[in-house]
Amino acid sequence: MAATSKAISQAAVERFDLRGRVAIVTGGGKGIGKIYAREFARAGARVVAADIDGDAAETVAREIVGEGYEAIGLRTDVADADAVELMANAALKKYGTIDVLVNNASLMSVLPRRDWMEIPVEEWDKVMEVNLRGMFLCCRAVAPTMKEKRAGKIVNISSSRVWEGTPLRLHYTTSKAGVVGLTRALARELGAYNITVNAVTPGATLSETQVASSSGNYLATRVVGRSLERPQTPEDLVGAVMFLSTAASDFITGQTLNVDGGKAMH
Ligand SMILES: NC(=O)c1ccc[n+]([C@@H]2O[C@H](COP(=O)([O-])OP(=O)(O)OC[C@H]3O[C@@H](n4cnc5c(N)ncnc54)[C@H](O)[C@@H]3O)[C@@H](O)[C@H]2O)c1
Repeated sequence: MAATSKAISQAAVERFDLRGRVAIVTGGGKGIGKIYAREFARAGARVVAADIDGDAAETVAREIVGEGYEAIGLRTDVADADAVELMANAALKKYGTIDVLVNNASLMSVLPRRDWMEIPVEEWDKVMEVNLRGMFLCCRAVAPTMKEKRAGKIVNISSSRVWEGTPLRLHYTTSKAGVVGLTRALARELGAYNITVNAVTPGATLSETQVASSSGNYLATRVVGRSLERPQTPEDLVGAVMFLSTAASDFITGQTLNVDGGKAMH
């Protein structure tokens, strides 16, 4: 088909436009979060990469700035209410507003895969503390700014384990199911303010941290049953998270978008 020489409409540009948007990416120092931070910045967003690994977050921000885009890196423990308020304040101080929150930080790759009876109670509590309380605290910290301007996008990272009931990290799978519940209820709480809250469920993804903590055999088994039968990369998730962060998804809220190469269908 011949390419059209007509300029694309302004509406078409604005629909997927992230330029100038201020996006906080938690867990943005490593793994998939690092790729979200980098790709959002490359799309023109001003990025706050917040991670409990402050050095990693600062390195990501430095690399983004080195490419000529905008970012800051912060050491933030999402499970710590004071630290999360500091994160939101730092974003406001640096960039003046908050448009997007990508709740990506999580305890996952550091967790051993083991029988559920062997999970220490302290580890169960820690997973809930980071993966659920952390998400609640981050939403709470950005909500006043988003409510005031009656606009905002919250994207919560869950997991395709929720659809598959994947065993051996029972606490992790349970916490990611909680993310779906939080997303649905918070969408109703924030709808009146024109703030959308959605979730994404990635399939097993070859993030650097996942690869380092998994056997090749395990990762190979995760590919089986996908409609698109190949390994999933962090880049495979970027488009879905961006879609839920832009005007293109303005009438979608409380939903969970599965990005796993067509394994689970719901
Ligand atoms: N990689 C996968 O196969 C996969 C599959 C489904 C869902 N996910 C989800 O996608 C997201 C990213 O996955 P990943 O593979 O990069 O995971 P990961 O475990 O490697 O990365 C999580 C990031 O969160 C940070 N973090 C941990 N605790 C924190 C805390 N208390 N405060 C702030 N930051 C903290 C880590 O330093 C790390 O940068 C996670 O939410 C994960 O649960 C990943």
